[in-house]
Amino acid sequence: MAYSEKLLDYFQNPRCVGEIPGADAVAEVSNPICGDVMKLWVKIDGRHIRDAKFKAQGCSAAIATSSYATEMLVGMEIDRARLITKEEIADALGGLPASKIHCSVLASDAIKQVLREF
Ligand code: FES
Repeated sequence: MAYSEKLLDYFQNPRCVGEIPGADAVAEVSNPICGDVMKLWVKIDGRHIRDAKFKAQGCSAAIATSSYATEMLVGMEIDRARLITKEEIADALGGLPASKIHCSVLASDAIKQVLREF
């Protein structure tokens, strides 16, 4: 299975890259399988995520899924964001080859971790 055009676009032109100075929460997760890393910053406003940015060191699938998931977060209700799964992220990008499913875990884990105190 090849990557979708959408996934390749998020890899080549990642959205929401960077840091948020004065973020309300920051999480860093690494993938135990390959050692790739994602760091996620969020700014919270009431029950919503007002802004989100990420930095990742990883494969093309990790960059694309991290970027897409971070973009999803902006404006989303915290309770909804907690329900985001690796399958939801991968499906939205046209699916991932079986050997790369673990790459979308970085983003779903980072989201759960960054929202743990809210
Ligand atoms: Fe490490 Fe994809 S190979 S996240």
